[in-house]
Amino acid sequence: SEPDLERHFEGTIARDARIEPRDWVPEGYRKTMIRQIAQHAHSEIIGMQPEGNWITRAPSLRRKAILLAKVQDEAGHGLYLYSAAETLGADRAELTEKLVTGRQKYSSIFNYPTLNFADVGVIGWLVDGAAICNQVPLCRSSYGPYARAMIRICKEESFHQRQGYELLMTMMKGTEQQRRMVQDATDRWWWPSLMMFGPPDADSPNTAQSMAWKIKRHTNDELRQRFVDMTVPQAEALGVTLPDPELRWNPERGHYDFGEIDWTEFKRVLSGAGPCNAERVAHRRAAHENGAWVREAAAAHAAKSRRGREK
Ligand code: ACO
Repeated sequence: SEPDLERHFEGTIARDARIEPRDWVPEGYRKTMIRQIAQHAHSEIIGMQPEGNWITRAPSLRRKAILLAKVQDEAGHGLYLYSAAETLGADRAELTEKLVTGRQKYSSIFNYPTLNFADVGVIGWLVDGAAICNQVPLCRSSYGPYARAMIRICKEESFHQRQGYELLMTMMKGTEQQRRMVQDATDRWWWPSLMMFGPPDADSPNTAQSMAWKIKRHTNDELRQRFVDMTVPQAEALGVTLPDPELRWNPERGHYDFGEIDWTEFKRVLSGAGPCNAERVAHRRAAHENGAWVREAAAAHAAKSRRGREK
């Protein structure tokens, strides 16, 4: 009966055990889990674009091989996240449809342009660094298929972060112009990276419920602070300045204080008016339309082999 099922669900959450696809879940849990997993999957797929843009212009074979591997990893992350959403009853074609018609979100960060190869390094360092910070706790998220997907994703994200940092270290040991490129890219990506963690806790409509259901293990502001604290020493080691005059160690709090984030810009990007929103979605839509014949052929082939087996 419904009360029994609900007790079982609440008990599973309270015991810190995993919810699995076979388990009954409240509609709200299903809805928010599909929402988060779909947005996450879309982010991985849209996230292939800013860097994919540089594959043909990588400065060496080594950098090209690294970048290709990284962008392929992102496709893989997107695909198994869509599979995780399917275990909750979501339809993958429908999720894609919602993405290409602008009815479902993806991370704000991928709506910024990549102007030169230093951006590839800074995306690895800051964007993938922020992604790891946000996703490592999700390995303990209450929904089993999502939490398990996060384990592999985080391992691959660590490689992405390291390749970025190593690229930047190399550039910082290069010419004055290369050092300027790294500083410029850092200036452009720092604030958008802080926005990746989502709105401040006071303006985050989903956090309280997602924390209660142990979908999220930390609030947006907690993870943002953790990211700032771990990134400041990395910036020092690299020799770049983070573009925030208010950034300083606060011995009382035991954390770095930092300046106010421009939440108007965040809202603008979320509403679809960021620098590259239209381009990103149009590119994804075109790829989807151009791939229609492949999906049709695959479906026809699957139907034919099924008929063959049934004979
Ligand atoms: N970009 C776009 N949308 C965002 C962002 C962002 N940076 N931050 C928050 N939002 C959206 C939320 O998805 C939510 O959307 P809704 O209209 O569907 O409800 C709304 O803004 C309000 O935010 P919150 O209530 O704080 O939402 P939530 O509890 O889901 O927290 C967060 C947002 C932290 C992003 C969470 O969903 C999460 O941890 N997701 C998994 C990680 C992820 O998606 N990473 C993708 C980028 S990293 C990468 O792919 C390399």
